[in-house]
Amino acid sequence: MLTRRTHTCGELRTEHTGQEVVVQGWASAVRDRGGVTFLLLRDRHGIVQITVDERCSDAVRDAAKAVRLEYVLQVRGTVAARAEGAVKDDMETGAIEVVPTEVEILSGTEPLPFAIGKQSEAHEETRLKYRYLDLRRPQLQQNIVRRHRAAQAARSALSELGFLEIETPILTKATPEGARDYLVPSRVHAGQWYALPQSPQIFKQILMVSGMDRYFQICRCFRDEDLRFDRQPEFTQIDIEMSFAPRDLIMEVAETVTRRMFADVLGHVVGEIPRLSYAEAMERFGVDNPDLRFGMELTSLDAVLGGSTFPPVANAVAEGGRVRGFVVKGASESASRKVLDAWTAFVKPYGLGGLLWGKVTDSEVTGPLKKAVDDFAGFCAATGASAGDVVVVAAGSEKAVNTGLGRLRVQVAREREMIGEGFAFAWVVDFPLFEATDDGGWTSTHHPFTSPKPEHVGWLGSERQGEILSDAYDLVCNGNEICGGSVRIHRHDVQEKVFAALGIGPEEQREKFGFMLDALSFGAPPHGGMAFGFDRLMMWLCGTESIRDVIAFPKTTSAQDLMSGAPGPVPPADLVELHVRNTVD
Ligand code: AMO
Repeated sequence: MLTRRTHTCGELRTEHTGQEVVVQGWASAVRDRGGVTFLLLRDRHGIVQITVDERCSDAVRDAAKAVRLEYVLQVRGTVAARAEGAVKDDMETGAIEVVPTEVEILSGTEPLPFAIGKQSEAHEETRLKYRYLDLRRPQLQQNIVRRHRAAQAARSALSELGFLEIETPILTKATPEGARDYLVPSRVHAGQWYALPQSPQIFKQILMVSGMDRYFQICRCFRDEDLRFDRQPEFTQIDIEMSFAPRDLIMEVAETVTRRMFADVLGHVVGEIPRLSYAEAMERFGVDNPDLRFGMELTSLDAVLGGSTFPPVANAVAEGGRVRGFVVKGASESASRKVLDAWTAFVKPYGLGGLLWGKVTDSEVTGPLKKAVDDFAGFCAATGASAGDVVVVAAGSEKAVNTGLGRLRVQVAREREMIGEGFAFAWVVDFPLFEATDDGGWTSTHHPFTSPKPEHVGWLGSERQGEILSDAYDLVCNGNEICGGSVRIHRHDVQEKVFAALGIGPEEQREKFGFMLDALSFGAPPHGGMAFGFDRLMMWLCGTESIRDVIAFPKTTSAQDLMSGAPGPVPPADLVELHVRNTVD
């Protein structure tokens, strides 16, 4: 009969010796050794050994013999200290065993698709199909526990700061965060659709207009975009908004939440977080999410190589491009031709014709770069290179050079194991408000509700539009954006101008964002906020490279849930009711 457990499997120690206990869990090992049956009983807290020997009744010994792997058991028994030779130091409960007076099988099992504990040998698709079995793996269980602790840490830090947890709608209108929407047809309103929120951005701003002052929510967001190792179609944000807060106060709140999560989950103290402007990040690292765990910064070589007549450089300069590079210290011998060719192939997809690499000796640069270097001493002085180093140089459009070299920098550091342990945080601030699109228009670097710097508001709609900086900020951890936010536009006239600059005309503004513009016209306080990408943050807190390892029921990179079979077909009659016609056979 099911009774209450007295202890979890992981908590029994020598101090419990002599106590009668009830433990419940799964049989993770069953071993018969010369008439003695050893059962390892596992729950999410740990594993304890149940020793069935001559101290037990015949009924218990028979019951133990019937146990198979992954059976669900209830065991009543007495905690005993193990004999000296049987103590296991590598097991938390290794100093004790439970000698049972009752072994009850609560549930049996069908043959398992893979052995629990050896899931790593099973294909990921099989593991996702039987996710509940994969979740029995201690590593995944630990990740889920850490996720809970991190969420609790954020909740308590924010509650202490006076933030209210408020829910916002899931069936709503589109929120522009740059991805495609997931749409839900309305049965009641023929031909009308809800969109699932890409983020609660508009609602949280409206909560500020309503005087809610300080809001947060640990919420699900939905984005139909191409998936990668760190992207899911539905993911979780710790979403935050506050009124009457200058930029630095908002950033302080983000730091407080970050510090609390790292302390509570890992006992890690996050030190002072450096700030870089977007321009500085691009100049030094080529990307707006710099990994500061290692150096190898980019150097401008416009002055020292820009006058070269070597065509790859001269052509790029003639087209208004840039020449930049970085030094891989002491790599001359280890960077084989194969490695250098791989680096060259790596940068090409970023819009570069190739990579000019060179090996530095005492008197010259060898390799493809040789032809571009007229002034060897000047080149060494500009790059900081010396004999034995490899220098990689790219010439091309600023965007291609920055992205190609910025990504290559991380790739080279990974290959050469230059990335140390620990966490390197950085704030990136002062982003451009807009980015030029290929068709000559503009798009928001963050989202259209981000405030231009007050001193740049006058440039909206002018020739200087591309130079406008915003009060946006990203928090980067080890080269990964974990939190992003901004001071918002709280004046409806400025909001209208930003929409107009994005090519959203008055009619479209009213249709899509009329309710938001109205709200801003009824006494909106200055406000701002941010959102943590909770899953990405958890990847760092769990030390895993896959976002699927930190989500209980993740989707594949083709947005499927292999366990439930979603997405799936629906009966034609349901579609009729929803006024939707299927165009696929
Ligand atoms: P943003 O679009 O930058 O900002 O999103 C915030 C954080 O969410 C994470 N993220 C994702 N994580 C997993 N899968 C995805 N598909 C995915 N997309 C984004 C990132 C990112 O830093 N409303 C604004 C925030 C604000 O301004 O307050 C927003 O959503 O880690």
